[in-house]
Amino acid sequence: MEKAGQPIVVLDFGAQYSKLIARRVREARVYSVIVPFDTPIAELQSLRPAGIIFSGGPASVHQPGAPKPDPAVFSLGLPILGICYGVQLFADMLGGKVERANEREYGIAYLEHDDGTGFLDEVEARTQVWMSHGDRVTQLPSGFQVIGRTENSPYAAIADPERRFFGVQFHPEVVHTPQGRQILSNFVHTVCGCPPSWDMGSFADAAVREIRDRVGDKRVLCALSGGVDSSVAAVLIHRAIGDKLTCVFVNNGLLRKGEPEMVLRVFRDNFRINLDYADAEDRFLTALRGVSDPERKRKIIGNVFIEVFEEEARRLGHMDFLAQGTLYPDVIESVSATGGPSVTIKSHHNVGGLPEKMHLELLEPLRELFKDEVRALGRELGLPEEIVGRHPFPGPGLGVRCVGEVTRERLDTLRDADAIFIEEIRRAGLYGSIWQALVCLLPVRSVGVQGDERTYAEVCSLRAVTSEDAMTADWFRFPPEVLQRTANRICNEVKHVNRVLYDITSKPPGTIEWE
Ligand code: XMP
Repeated sequence: MEKAGQPIVVLDFGAQYSKLIARRVREARVYSVIVPFDTPIAELQSLRPAGIIFSGGPASVHQPGAPKPDPAVFSLGLPILGICYGVQLFADMLGGKVERANEREYGIAYLEHDDGTGFLDEVEARTQVWMSHGDRVTQLPSGFQVIGRTENSPYAAIADPERRFFGVQFHPEVVHTPQGRQILSNFVHTVCGCPPSWDMGSFADAAVREIRDRVGDKRVLCALSGGVDSSVAAVLIHRAIGDKLTCVFVNNGLLRKGEPEMVLRVFRDNFRINLDYADAEDRFLTALRGVSDPERKRKIIGNVFIEVFEEEARRLGHMDFLAQGTLYPDVIESVSATGGPSVTIKSHHNVGGLPEKMHLELLEPLRELFKDEVRALGRELGLPEEIVGRHPFPGPGLGVRCVGEVTRERLDTLRDADAIFIEEIRRAGLYGSIWQALVCLLPVRSVGVQGDERTYAEVCSLRAVTSEDAMTADWFRFPPEVLQRTANRICNEVKHVNRVLYDITSKPPGTIEWE
């Protein structure tokens, strides 16, 4: 896909930071893609890169089977930036020397540089950098010169200005290298000559053209949940092919207060998308009756969803494509330390197995984007903030927040409590500072007193966390009055609840959801 100029290609040598490198390049408004280190040279050229970045990686160049690129990559006439392991590849493959250091250098160091090539322009003469490496370069290949050093790394930054090869032993992509963005921006703008022209508008235009070309006169089915990813995918595809898109929205009875109405209003009334609304509340609740085990609940919810979705799809007639809001982190292929490719693909929520079963081709227009880019695209496409700015919500919905048995009455209680919590968070202006906020209804009752009366009622637990990627999370430090107001309102306004707790477990050891 042509996306406003030539891309920067990141060759992935198994670094935990490859995604971050691609992101930083995109933040500099230059499009970038990650490809495996052993991508054949012709394929690499077909991407028409303006420059190449070698990611770091956990391997040692001396290790048998260490991941190495096709040496022809050095003869393409393109600028190359080697990061960490990437620097060692220069030294190893172009005639320098790499040795095992006695000790791994890890953590903060200070780079002092006297660069005259433009690569470190605007970077202070002494600046903090983040190191994490075992091997070190002990002899530079010919053509290279040292442009920066740290106390323990005499070759912390190197350059061959003639060939436009640059190497940094540290990681410019992480936040612990405060001027790393400047360095990456110098590489892509100054060294590679890419203009800062990539943005969501150009992405949307190119994506619309590509969807039109691919779909032609065929029909697309999309499972719309009202979450950010499927919403943005639906609106983008709708912009491309209009009525050839049909969305199915399944109300599983496990949605938040006002959610089905909101989805119908936004997509059917505002965007005028063909929206098939399947009200399957009874069916889900019947299937869940008497079940408290979290994994059984998840399985039941997943299976009933597939049944309902399939029935709706059959009713809607022949379809050719199934649209999904799969994102970039779900599809990136990584490589293992030994160089063997190890593919990590997260199976995406609710439609697993459906494409094969229904003989549908997959259409995944967001598969090149990160979450925050999807939000930006959603805004570009005119989706309201109530959708693009929304906290994540799990596929099994309130089913995994109604701890214990799931009944209509308990779900209503939970919906009311959740709505109050979110309202109070918004009122305090804190919604955007929180990754996710939720209420769980616990399978416990407690004694209370209200208006001289003894009560014996349900207990709910509030949870709000900060996180970067949901892999780890910390509990959010609320001003006490926000918790106080929320607890008061829940006890006063929500029938059946007489006690409110605040969950201060981080992840790990807890998870974000209770089940
Ligand atoms: P946990 O509870 O594992 O959740 O810390 C991490 C993130 O994933 C969300 N989550 C899900 N999302 N289907 C989804 O689409 C699911 O089954 C599911 N379970 C958890 C959770 O809300 C949090 O953002």
